[in-house]
Amino acid sequence: MKKFIATTLSIGVLSAGALLADTIVAKKVSASLDNIKCDSPVWEKAKAAEVILYPQTTIILNDKKANELNKDDKAKRAKVKALYNGKRIAFLIEWADGTKSVQKGYSSTSYADGFAVQFTNITDPNKLPYIGMGNEGREVVIHLQKAVDKFYEPNGNKDVSMQVNVHNTNNFAKDVEKFEKKVDSLANRDYEKVFVSQGFRSMTEIKGEKLKAKAGMKYKDGKWKGMVARATNDEYLDLNKPAIAVAFAVWDGDKLNRDGLKFLSSWEPVVLSKEGENFAKAVLQKVQGDVKNGEKIAKENCAACHNYGKEQNAPKFMAPNLSNIGGYSTAAYLRESIVDPSAVVVPGYNRNAHKNFEWYTVDDKGHRQSTMPPFSHLDKKSQDDLIAFLQTLKAEVEK
Ligand code: HEC
Repeated sequence: MKKFIATTLSIGVLSAGALLADTIVAKKVSASLDNIKCDSPVWEKAKAAEVILYPQTTIILNDKKANELNKDDKAKRAKVKALYNGKRIAFLIEWADGTKSVQKGYSSTSYADGFAVQFTNITDPNKLPYIGMGNEGREVVIHLQKAVDKFYEPNGNKDVSMQVNVHNTNNFAKDVEKFEKKVDSLANRDYEKVFVSQGFRSMTEIKGEKLKAKAGMKYKDGKWKGMVARATNDEYLDLNKPAIAVAFAVWDGDKLNRDGLKFLSSWEPVVLSKEGENFAKAVLQKVQGDVKNGEKIAKENCAACHNYGKEQNAPKFMAPNLSNIGGYSTAAYLRESIVDPSAVVVPGYNRNAHKNFEWYTVDDKGHRQSTMPPFSHLDKKSQDDLIAFLQTLKAEVEK
């Protein structure tokens, strides 16, 4: 393992033990993980860690009803377990959802509960990809699973364009019966997609033979369990490392959650072997600073563009809403966003629809340049105070 981690973050006053108390530790097992399911007994070997999922408030959907339903969202608690055996790595995420929402067909007024697990090859804790599906030069692989009604998949390739829903009887009015029979023998219950992405407008679906993964969802007693098991190594990812960073998202169909309207974790370290603990500490590290002073700096320098907390007077489309930025960002990401905004550019609203509020321009080499000015002139203490304040911007956690 050459030069695994170079961390520039200091550990400060928090003890390593406290930092790592709720870290996801992947349990090495000898059992096969080829056919693992949500309720396979092998999960009992892994210890559950708590992960908090915050309402993603970066952009506000143009949907009054959805916005109304989600305006007082609290952060969700999830329990995550991980297993690996050298060939495969598997994640189980469990979260409470009082209403089971299963999408019927491709209706655009009903939405499904679902979850996603996001992976990256990057092991520099200061250069992790943008949490919302990666960014230029920092790729992620996303496994997405939604609870949908039965569909029929003629080629068995998890190829969404080929999937036919049971309720789509128009095409099958004549031989629904025959169709139903076929569905019963071949149907999948879940909608599963895997993407490789450098930002949400550059997602490429991975399917067919290349998809060495399995996923599943199971609802019981007001809780969802979601599972993803994938190859530790394939042409997209090499997760054979002492530690990796993984992020989780869940959608609540009942609250009209879809796309960016979801609950999102920060990058979470997953420790596979003891050597990975330094990486975990670096990802979890918080910046200590004077929160009150940070709040003042933010009001003076940031509130004209960004809405957050009590500051909600910036034009709506001007810049990402930072109300939950402390929930789904690492400290390193916050610092980078302040001193070097173009390192990671948040894509923002449709640029054609909101011409006056472009979040980036494109230079002659095709690279995105943020329209946010860099604040690298702030001294270290002011930066720390500002970051300490941004870390407090997050919804209350549900009981
Ligand atoms: C001129 C408007 C403007 C000002 C002033 C501004 N920003 Fe930004 N900011 C943006 C835009 C546009 C983006 C999205 C593009 C990008 O990622 O850089 C952004 C992105 C961010 C992000 C990433 C958000 C996310 O969802 O990941 C953070 C964090 C941030 N800004 C913090 C700040 C802080 C702190 C200040 C004050 C010191 C500030 N900004 C000042 C316009 C601004």
